[in-house]
Amino acid sequence: MLKNFWYACEFSAAITTNPKQVRILNQKLVFYRNAKGQLIALQDRCPHRGAALSLGWVKDDCIHCPYHAWKFQADGKCINIPANQPGIPIPKNARVDSYPIQEKYGFIWLFYGDLPEEERPPIPPLPEFEDPSLQKIFFEYELNAHYTRTLENDMDMSHVSIIHSKSFGNGFALEQKMEDYELNVGEWEGHAKVNVRDYTKAKDLFAFVFRPLKANVKVTLGFYMPNITRLVVDFGRGKLVNFTVHVPVDDRTTITKRIQFRSFLTFPWADGIFQRAAYKVVMEDKGVVESEYPMAVPDKLSDEVHVPCDNLSLAYRKLRQKCLAMGWGMKPYQNQVDDSNGNLMPPSP
Ligand code: FES
Repeated sequence: MLKNFWYACEFSAAITTNPKQVRILNQKLVFYRNAKGQLIALQDRCPHRGAALSLGWVKDDCIHCPYHAWKFQADGKCINIPANQPGIPIPKNARVDSYPIQEKYGFIWLFYGDLPEEERPPIPPLPEFEDPSLQKIFFEYELNAHYTRTLENDMDMSHVSIIHSKSFGNGFALEQKMEDYELNVGEWEGHAKVNVRDYTKAKDLFAFVFRPLKANVKVTLGFYMPNITRLVVDFGRGKLVNFTVHVPVDDRTTITKRIQFRSFLTFPWADGIFQRAAYKVVMEDKGVVESEYPMAVPDKLSDEVHVPCDNLSLAYRKLRQKCLAMGWGMKPYQNQVDDSNGNLMPPSP
């Protein structure tokens, strides 16, 4: 896991004035909006007896603990203890951590780290979100896998004609010709352009969606550090874009949240077809991705064997190594299951 990035961790519509627990980076946080619409992210653990603040309520722009109703303001400071006798001051350590948070492109973004604002890597662009001609659907699923594995799977080209041969995969050449594979790597991102020569063998739902659009299909696959993938399928007469965030819940769980845009079949009644198609693809990948060992991609490139069609994944691993070399790595907590429900607990302050 890496610190010092903006993490998209929930869809905007899911955060209301009702507190919601969000699990990310081995932490449990609570997100909510106050009456002014301001977004707030706090540690979801009351400093009094450890109750989850997400079970409490929001009033007067503050969150109240469900157990003894301690009242916390947006910066995490406790400003009222109902059971306190008059004149007894509120203890200085009656506070929870608060986190920078913002809303963009239909996601809530949390900054986790210690960099000053001006040095933080930017939130990646998503111009399709503002394009009213595109129809969009929101989609999410959970896998028992590390986010580095689900991310790499999302941009892995050579598995497509193997694992997805019963859906959309037959149109991809098993061997990518390297002259068709153009890789561009930036400071925090990498993208590969691939030409797909034959897309006519797509099956089932995918045949319905893709065959009418068959053309010289161009695919761009890419990533933004540390946990976002972007897929653009350009059919000439229409395009499909997946912007997918792989939310690192803990060392063995990833919740993947995707906004998919399309410029064809833009009727809302077609949304269900695309939802089902996306779900089918995930189910085809699930068993294999959850079987990968070790759970996270290795820190050393030499610990796995690579071939040229893995160059996009390699570009990701190299940027990840760069982050680790800068001290942005976070300790894994795989063996620190220390509550009675088997939940991973955050490190001691
Ligand atoms: Fe939160 Fe007591 S546990 S107020």
